[in-house]
Amino acid sequence: MPTVIPPTIEVHLTEAELRTAMETDVRDGLTATPKQLPPVYFYDDRGSRLFDQITRLPEYYPTRAERSILEAHAKDLVLQADADVLVELGAGTCAKSRVLLDALRDCGRLGRFVPLDVSETTLWAAARALAEEYPGLEVHAVVGDFHRHLDRLGADRRRLVAFLGGTIGNLDPAGRRRFLADLVATLSPGDRLLLGTDLVKAEDRLVAAYDDASGVTAEFNRNVLHVLNRELGADFPTDRFAHVARWNAAENRIEMWLRSLDASRISLRDLDLEVAFAAGEALLTEISTKFTPAGLEAELGASGLAVESRWTSDGGEFQLTLARRP
Ligand code: SAH
Ligand code: AVI
Repeated sequence: MPTVIPPTIEVHLTEAELRTAMETDVRDGLTATPKQLPPVYFYDDRGSRLFDQITRLPEYYPTRAERSILEAHAKDLVLQADADVLVELGAGTCAKSRVLLDALRDCGRLGRFVPLDVSETTLWAAARALAEEYPGLEVHAVVGDFHRHLDRLGADRRRLVAFLGGTIGNLDPAGRRRFLADLVATLSPGDRLLLGTDLVKAEDRLVAAYDDASGVTAEFNRNVLHVLNRELGADFPTDRFAHVARWNAAENRIEMWLRSLDASRISLRDLDLEVAFAAGEALLTEISTKFTPAGLEAELGASGLAVESRWTSDGGEFQLTLARRP
């Protein structure tokens, strides 16, 4: 019987680095037009818990749709990927990783799992639980940023790099090009990317998924203001910012905004910065791009990845793509 291997953790993003990046991003974002913030700052402990609640909402179909594809095809894709190491970017609670780990175990390929996330508490809790649940599995968690630390994920063995949940859709086209180029540069020939992407669909279903009736997504959206208040000594009146989710048809993306209900001056003490909001002015907090299979294949091809297989959920909501670095 394999024994439980204690998990290890490698921190590439210290509190001090995270803080410096936050200071720069927030200053740049709040002085831009329109005002904007990168979505990475949603995910403190509370934000990670709120996201976990989102994944269970009746309106938020992507998690269930992606899980159903994994459950149906994990064994095929694991055999095709023929990898010794499973890496997962933006792994969070690693809820769906378990489906891949089960398939790896069933195929006798359970070796090493390397989840990467910015959220240390969530990642460490997941790593400990997985090491217990999968005796014989080496879990090596990496606290890092997938924009900066892709070269820290080990290249000594054949890898399957999973990027699930549709998180790549939170990057704009230039951001996706940069991300894919950086990733391809770190992959060895034969390594594969397993990419989860949400697909274009009817506007009302999309908007409902990002503006649920119970208000969890609204609270997730406003959480970024709580983070700025706590971390940067800001004084956003969080209850005076309304959650807005809109479909931008020209860009094929859902946008989440926070609309200031009042004209206000917000002070960010630690940045020595004051920003003025007009009544009704909105701050862009997240884009969530929805793809077409052809558009996605073109983006992956342009980055130097060859699509090998793709699977779609039964309702056609979501796609998993397996692509190989030639
Ligand atoms: N993969 C999971 C979680 C998706 S939520 C799923 O499919 O359900 C997005 C995750 O990415 C969060 O856990 C968040 O902390 C992480 N994340 C966001 N931006 C990141 C970044 N720049 N680098 C690393 N992790 C990031
Ligand atoms: C993490 N990411 C893929 C989610 C999404 O659907 O874009 C984040 C999210 N935002 C609101 N609900 C969920």
